[in-house]
Amino acid sequence: MSNLPLRDGGPKARIAVIPGDGIGKEVTPVAVKCMQSAAAKRQRPLEFVEFDWGADKFLREGVTLPPGAVEMLRNEFDAILFGALGDPRVPSNQHAADILLGLRFKLDLYVNARPTELLHPRYTPLRDVTLDDIRLMVFRENTEGIYVGVGGFFKKDTPDEIAVQEDVNSRKGVERIIRHAFEFARGRKLKRLCMSDKSNAMTFAGDLWQRVFKSVRAEYPEIDSRHLFIDTLAMEIVRDPRQFDVIVTNNLFGDIVSDLAAQLAGGLGLAPSANIHPGRTSLFEPVHGSAPNIAGKGIANPFGAVLTSGLLMEFLGWNEEALALKNAVKSALSDNLTTPDLNGSHTTAQVSDYLIAHLARHS
Ligand code: NAD
Ligand code: IPM
Ligand code: MN
Repeated sequence: MSNLPLRDGGPKARIAVIPGDGIGKEVTPVAVKCMQSAAAKRQRPLEFVEFDWGADKFLREGVTLPPGAVEMLRNEFDAILFGALGDPRVPSNQHAADILLGLRFKLDLYVNARPTELLHPRYTPLRDVTLDDIRLMVFRENTEGIYVGVGGFFKKDTPDEIAVQEDVNSRKGVERIIRHAFEFARGRKLKRLCMSDKSNAMTFAGDLWQRVFKSVRAEYPEIDSRHLFIDTLAMEIVRDPRQFDVIVTNNLFGDIVSDLAAQLAGGLGLAPSANIHPGRTSLFEPVHGSAPNIAGKGIANPFGAVLTSGLLMEFLGWNEEALALKNAVKSALSDNLTTPDLNGSHTTAQVSDYLIAHLARHS
């Protein structure tokens, strides 16, 4: 379900690793070890280079995304494995905006692919659903929308102050994400695609999304495509997730609906994501954040990061390794080898040891 377009990275893959802040530093090393273990069997050459970009560096040196970083990543790496950014000592979130949004925008990673797949029936809060019922892909537009930082303050710090945050939608940007979603559905022979917006209230942006959707869907008559307003989608996805194979939506709605979908399959601790520009250096990160409430306790769930590294390996065309990673997570779930967020009693390190032992036996 999470198959992604391939980059022709050749036989050796170079991966930049940015653990970031909080639990990003705890779960990313687990994902790296699992990738190494999965790759070892068939002697796939992997090279990891770690970068310490995040809150500590920002607070120490005032540096967020260092000069030349984007070009270096684009030219020297096949993919980026990213943990999470966010630290209570940086309330402005400036470093996350510069590094995470900066890389999404500057590498033009317009596809944010966020698959939800129920890997074990114990972990859904819904009644009477089977594994096949919760398997969907959210495609989130990842380079524009309300995230672009267009806006400003007027009369700031006065009783009359105004804050403006613009929602920027280009025809090119809307078309390429909608087309990507249709191509994905066609490639996987998935029948149902839903475009979601708020065109009843956000009339200009919504009108553009509606018109582009109408023209692109005409090229894919074999796909049963429909539109839902985002509020209705949020309700329907919980009422009956069987309706959805592929969802495509804008940046903000995709952020929200992917957390919602993740919870149907066990929560943020299990949710992977890929930020892709097909054929170019792309960035892979779990959906969750830096979780300051549990950071440093050694109990962060590494499954989201490990499944994310599976998406990365699929992106490299290493499908068997990706499957081995997913199977290791499935096995841990079925053996109740989980961290407290999944009602388990194990630590990150114990889960990591289990996964690596499983991969050594099965990869
Ligand atoms: P969060 O995802 O960090 O945490 C939400 C809740 O889920 C918390 O209770 C947390 O403990 C739990 N959780 C998340 N991942 C978990 C895991 N792997 N194992 C166990 N429990 C897990 O979201 P938040 O609290 O809203 O944000 C915290 C910080 O992270 C903020 O600074 C936010 O901006 C940032 N953030 C970053 C990213 C990213 O870098 N991609 C994504 C989301 C949030
Ligand atoms: C995510 C996060 C980010 C986003 C934040 C940290 C800016 O929530 O990756 O889902 O909204 O894109
Ligand atoms: Mn989010």
